Amino acid sequence: MTKILVLNGPNLNLLGTREPEIYGRLTLDDINERMRLRAEAAGASIAFAQSNHEGALVDAIQAARGKADYIILNAAAFTHYSIAIRDAIAAAGVPVIEVHLSNIHRREEFRHTSVIAPVVQGQICGFGAESYMAALAVIICRMEEHQ
Ligand code: DQA
Repeated sequence: MTKILVLNGPNLNLLGTREPEIYGRLTLDDINERMRLRAEAAGASIAFAQSNHEGALVDAIQAARGKADYIILNAAAFTHYSIAIRDAIAAAGVPVIEVHLSNIHRREEFRHTSVIAPVVQGQICGFGAESYMAALAVIICRMEEHQ
């Protein structure tokens, strides 16, 4: 069974009330529940974690080694400067799909750079909660191709 870990970084626990004009009105639980339903319908197992702490995210990526088949990661602000998270992704060897609710490329200049982009499979951004659903769709497509 394909195992998926969905990992969310700082301030994403505040989704629903945090700058809703940028990030939408769904809570992280709402998004996770949508993903859970879709993943389980496709026969995948899915787990969720969120942390505001860089080291905790590094720990979670390391712990996924040999346990998860894919990580869907919204590293939030760490995307733009955390070499520790980038190195953890490279070291873990678990395929990562980078997601963002907002289109980071049409926002402030400092958000245009993703230091994790060179070590992930690909990046999906700008579709709100559907960025996560699109990442999940990629994984489900690949599962079906390998059946
Ligand atoms: C974000 C974009 C980041 O620039 C920001 O720091 C976030 C959320 C997004 O999902 O759009 O916290 O990753």
